[in-house]
Amino acid sequence: MKPSTQEDKVIDEGRQGEAVTSVEVVASIMTSQGYETTRNAEDADVVLINTCSIRENAEIRVRKRLGDFKKRKESNPDLVVGILGCMAERLKKSLLEEEKLVDLVAGPDAYRDLPNLVDEVGTGQKAVNVLLSRDETYADISPVRLDQGGVSAFVTIMRGCDNMCSFCVVPFTRGRERSRDPHTIVNECKELFNAGYREVTLLGQNVDSYRWNLSSKGEIKDDTQPTTNFAQLMEMVALVSPDLRVRFSTSHPKDMTDDVLEIMEKYENICEYIHLPVQSGHTDVLHRMNRGYSREWYLDRIDAIRRIVSNCAISTDIISGFCGETEEEHKATLSLMDEVCYEYAYMFKYSERPKTLAERRFDDDVPEDVKGRRLIEIIDKQNAHSLATNQKDIGKMYKILVEGPSRRSAEQYCGRNGRNSMVIFDRNGVEKGQYVMVKITDCTSATLLGEYIETCPSA
Ligand code: 5AD
Ligand code: SF4
Repeated sequence: MKPSTQEDKVIDEGRQGEAVTSVEVVASIMTSQGYETTRNAEDADVVLINTCSIRENAEIRVRKRLGDFKKRKESNPDLVVGILGCMAERLKKSLLEEEKLVDLVAGPDAYRDLPNLVDEVGTGQKAVNVLLSRDETYADISPVRLDQGGVSAFVTIMRGCDNMCSFCVVPFTRGRERSRDPHTIVNECKELFNAGYREVTLLGQNVDSYRWNLSSKGEIKDDTQPTTNFAQLMEMVALVSPDLRVRFSTSHPKDMTDDVLEIMEKYENICEYIHLPVQSGHTDVLHRMNRGYSREWYLDRIDAIRRIVSNCAISTDIISGFCGETEEEHKATLSLMDEVCYEYAYMFKYSERPKTLAERRFDDDVPEDVKGRRLIEIIDKQNAHSLATNQKDIGKMYKILVEGPSRRSAEQYCGRNGRNSMVIFDRNGVEKGQYVMVKITDCTSATLLGEYIETCPSA
């Protein structure tokens, strides 16, 4: 497996979820102004491309995608092409100079302004809004769900990030951390449930620092007021209905507290799955990364999960070849993986990002081939662990939320268990959105195969 190809394919779920929610917020703003969405890019008069800057590869892909629109723009000069999100924020006006066919650039806090920006382009100008806000959470906007009749939806609970991990561009592209009013979150979850959704994933860059109180409008650090924290928010969402599953992403090892784990254990409908990015298994690298924890602290948090939440699956993010990473430090990552035995991991080669602390402080000095070789060692180990953890599930029964036909056959259906493992089983007349009991009979490193036992009654 070539590491770069692997990296290209991997889109971590939180990030993917964030992309979905941004697109849904944009769809809501535009439709409220009379625009319609279309599934066919050929029919569109306005094309808005949502972007991510987190790794260089993501930006390279956007530039390639822009190339696809060149011909269309030549044949239809009135077509409006806009770039939204992180790449827009990072490159600002210079995007208009670098990519001639782009008419509009809007950062992640400027989506309310999109209809005006599109109008501005209509008058023959280029339009830019990349202002970051301290309090924009789009709390009052009901995202337009583009997958009508879906089962699982993402719900944004906070935006931005106040951590300064030295490799990460997010604090520069997404701005300061701000939490969203819990009542708007709960209402959105209720509406989703009433529309037939059976799973919500609560999204934030660092859900454990979710904090809301009456003094809060953006800066939410005054804890003298009654405050809703993440554990309380999750409980409020879990109480929407026992038939609404709750997931969340991403947890931060420095902030994840036992009260969150206790709430997970208390409610059957909060999924027993945590995404806890480690990034590296060596304390010195974690220090250079400015992650705010040591290897020992991280392993203590893993112990807490194992102690408090029954049969909890854990996934992680790992970066290979961060600045100055020695062979010994890389081996520490491999040994930590052996200690934790993750169910799943998102694995990346370090790619230097402009403006970050790492770019300013350290040399990106691990040679490409060494980064690549280390990444392969990490991926090989993870594949072995994923297979081993899946094999342990053979013979067990799981409650699955049915998502629909599997990719291979219409007669086989698929869905996830609470541990976030994909399970495939013979249909037996079940419908998407139902909960069913399935007994696991076989597995690969990526999926579980099971036998349908029975459909669960609604609560
Ligand atoms: N290089 C490689 N991987 C990165 N990530 C974030 N920034 C970088 C970077 N500069 C990874 C981290 C993070 C995930 C979302 O992306 O592992 O947790
Ligand atoms: Fe980036 Fe760190 Fe914030 Fe995650 S917690 S978004 S890695 S700065």
